[in-house]
Amino acid sequence: MKFEKKAIIFDLDGVICFTDKYHYQAWKMLADRLGIYFDEKINNRLRGVSRMASLEIILERSTKEYTPEEKEAFAAEKNENYRELLKNMSPADLSDEVKNTLDELRRRGYKLTIGSSSKNTKFILSRIGLSDFFDAIADGTDITRSKPDPEVFLISAAKVGIDPADCAVVEDAKAGIQAAKAGGMTALALFGDAAGCGLEDYDLASFSDLLNIL
Ligand code: BG6
Ligand code: MG
Repeated sequence: MKFEKKAIIFDLDGVICFTDKYHYQAWKMLADRLGIYFDEKINNRLRGVSRMASLEIILERSTKEYTPEEKEAFAAEKNENYRELLKNMSPADLSDEVKNTLDELRRRGYKLTIGSSSKNTKFILSRIGLSDFFDAIADGTDITRSKPDPEVFLISAAKVGIDPADCAVVEDAKAGIQAAKAGGMTALALFGDAAGCGLEDYDLASFSDLLNIL
């Protein structure tokens, strides 16, 4: 199967690099402090979900009610822990497979962009040495509605002037696949709960499988 596209929009966490373990550790520190049960299975539900929506999922297990101000403070505390952990990342966290595939897609003339819910996108890209690589970045700082709303992908496409119908999105989260489809884009699922969710146009066997279908 071949997809005729002009731009490829990449989700960041779980697609370009793997930050799940740092998200997990940072949420776990907060959950432990608050005495709330939290495990890796619950962490999987946070994939592609915004920071505040993630906090609400964690607080489902809390016996206490918290005010909006307290919730803001919890989210800030988690983010501080998370950013400290992200300092462990370096260009070595960008795999050869991802780097070589991106280079080849660029050589083939595609616009390459990021569409991530994360407000830490630019920091993460700088940690792995990709600050100046992408043609455009749309992230959690650009949007008012998180995936499965298509906003972040539509902004990413608009930044490179490409029609949504000419964009393919690479996602590891079902919420991201839903967002891509809602935006009228082709959805390519890679790992996570995106693969086999039933809404995607294609399941990628690996990141480099992109070179077989584009
Ligand atoms: C997504 C992650 O990319 O970004 C989610 O998959 C995360 O797990 C979301 O909650 C928001 O991230 P941040 O960095 O803004 O807290
Ligand atoms: Mg993701």
